[in-house]
Amino acid sequence: MARRKKVYEGKAKILYEGPEPGTLVQYFKDDATAFNAEKRATIDGKGVLNNRLSEFFMNGLTAIGVPNHFIKRINMREQLIRAVEIIPLEVVVRNVAAGSICQRLGLEEGTPMPRPIVEFYFKNDALGDPIVSEEHIIAFGWANQQDLDDMVSLALRVNDFMSGLMLGVGIKLVDFKIEIGRTWDGDFMRLIVADEISPDSCRLWDIETGRKLDKDVFRRDLGDLADAYTEVARRLGVMPQGPSGVSKPTLIN
Ligand code: TMP
Repeated sequence: MARRKKVYEGKAKILYEGPEPGTLVQYFKDDATAFNAEKRATIDGKGVLNNRLSEFFMNGLTAIGVPNHFIKRINMREQLIRAVEIIPLEVVVRNVAAGSICQRLGLEEGTPMPRPIVEFYFKNDALGDPIVSEEHIIAFGWANQQDLDDMVSLALRVNDFMSGLMLGVGIKLVDFKIEIGRTWDGDFMRLIVADEISPDSCRLWDIETGRKLDKDVFRRDLGDLADAYTEVARRLGVMPQGPSGVSKPTLIN
C-alpha cells in the first residue's frame, strides 16, 4: 500500500508527498480522539464526511477571497493541498460560550459572547495545547504583529462566512478552530487557512432543538458521531446519500 512518502501523521489525518513540489495529499482517517488523545475510537465514515465537508467549506472561502490551502479533492478520503509552513497555534473563534472557556472563566454553556472572541492556543500535545497571549506569540517568535493582525482578520472572515452558511441551514456556529500556514511566492510571504474545517473542529448546535452536531457527540457520548456529521452534510447539500453512498432505508407510507 505504500505508494508515496508519508510526510506527517496526526490524530485524524495523514499527509503524503504530493505529485508536484509545493503540494501535499491530505488523507482523512476515521480515527477520533478527544481530551488530548486520552479517548479514542474509529468511526466509520468520519474521514469521508470530513474530506467532503472541508472541501465544501474551503471552496466557499475561496469563492469569497479567503486564501486557503485547498486545491482539489482526489477521492473519497484524499484531497490535494498546497504545502505550507504551519504556524504552531490553534486559532479559536467563539460566538457562544462552550467547552474550555466555560471552565476557565466560569461561564454557563450557551452564554452569547458580547462579540466574537479570538483566542490562540500553543499547538503542543505534551502541554495540552495551553492558551497563550499575543505577548507570548511575539516574544517567542511564533508570529509577528503583522502576522497576528492577518490571523485575526482571517479568523473573523472565516467566522462570518461559516456563521452565515450554518444559519442558512438552521445551525448555530458556536465556536471553531483553524490552523494557519505560511506560503511564499518568491520573496512574498502570505498567510492562508490550512489543515481542515469540519465538525471535528467546530461546535455546531441545531437552532431549534439545541442538538449537538459536532465532535462533542463523541467527547460526551451523546450518540452516533457519523449520524451527526451526516446531518450537517445533508443540510448543506453535501453527500445527501451519506458517507457510504447508500441512503438508509426509509419507511414508505
Ligand atoms: P475548546 O472549547 O475545547 O477550547 O475548543 C474550542 C473549539 O476548538 C471547538 O470548536 C473545538 C475546537 N478544537 C479543536 O479543533 N481541536 C482541539 O484540539 C481543541 C482543544 C479544540
